Amino acid sequence: MNAPVTLSLDARYYTDPAIFAKEMDGLLSTTWQFAGHANDIPKVGDYFAFEIAGQQLFSIRGRDKQVRTFYNVCQHRAHGLVQGSGNARVVVCPYHAWTYELTGHLRNGPNIGSVPGFEKSTVCLTEVRTEDFNGFIFVNLDDDAAPMDEWFPGVREEIAEYVPNVQELAPLEWVEIPEKCNWKVSVENYSECYHCPINHQTFATGVINPETYDIQPMDRGYTLRHTTECQSMEKMTYPVDLSVPHADEYRSWFLWPMVSFQCYPGNVLNTYHWRAHDVDRCTVWRGWYTPGGQDSDVIRNLAIQDRETTVEEDIHLVESVYRGLKSKGYRPGPLVVDPKGGVSSEHSVQKLQQWMREAVDG
Ligand code: FES
Ligand SMILES: [Fe+2]
Repeated sequence: MNAPVTLSLDARYYTDPAIFAKEMDGLLSTTWQFAGHANDIPKVGDYFAFEIAGQQLFSIRGRDKQVRTFYNVCQHRAHGLVQGSGNARVVVCPYHAWTYELTGHLRNGPNIGSVPGFEKSTVCLTEVRTEDFNGFIFVNLDDDAAPMDEWFPGVREEIAEYVPNVQELAPLEWVEIPEKCNWKVSVENYSECYHCPINHQTFATGVINPETYDIQPMDRGYTLRHTTECQSMEKMTYPVDLSVPHADEYRSWFLWPMVSFQCYPGNVLNTYHWRAHDVDRCTVWRGWYTPGGQDSDVIRNLAIQDRETTVEEDIHLVESVYRGLKSKGYRPGPLVVDPKGGVSSEHSVQKLQQWMREAVDG
């Protein structure tokens, strides 16, 4: 008997503010989220602030060199602690100047010694689970979350194999892309290449061979792995050193729900990470890296080419889809799930939508 046709997810999953609120409290607060790069905060006291699931956080490097992440809130009367990025000897609250050690422990505060029975050691910033994943800092607001190697078995090792210099990399450029759509529309668009041949000329002719593109869930965990052969190496838009293993391959690892590592031919690593702001607004960041963050025309040009072609093309697609999901005339259509997989199949979207459904409906 044939498997029944799978219909695409109902529009309300993308447009209903109540479902978005549920995702913010549930899915996005219990999964591993991309925070930044460890080499952006190399020195003791270096920090950067960011937001996950509506919560203000900051990561800071301690005297023991370890990166810790805290909620960005003073334990006195809740003022925010730091903004942007910088370096601090101790963390000083701008409201009444309470100071905290880099471990989050309260160090001192004006006149706190006058309070009978006040025990300084009982006050500490609230720490958030933090992992270093090949130099990338990830956080999870759920204290009981399983470690990343259980969520994404084998991915850490595979990235290190495809990008042998991954530990030396530092960010060269961040490209920020606001999109007027629900985050899931953007993530789904990233996770299928059924649309590539007619929408991404540069990607499909300059980087990969769309005929061989496939996206499959890895055996265990929550990773969708993209694999493809490349176009003829002579047609590459940048030079590639073919003596490095895997230099002639393209691969990417999408880590549910909103991060992806991409390895371009030439072992060039770049990343995607998403932030959901509202039911109908998200931002995608493209990250580009070089050893030590040293300048590179090749990488800068790749970032520009990617922004002007693939990224630009995708913005129009996802924003049109989002307008369509609010149309009274839309009935969810069948996903094109080809049992053989391949570029013209949406089996990867089927998998994603299954995770999306489970996150909301249990
Ligand atoms: S709120 Fe931070 S010192 Fe008072
Ligand atoms: Fe695309």
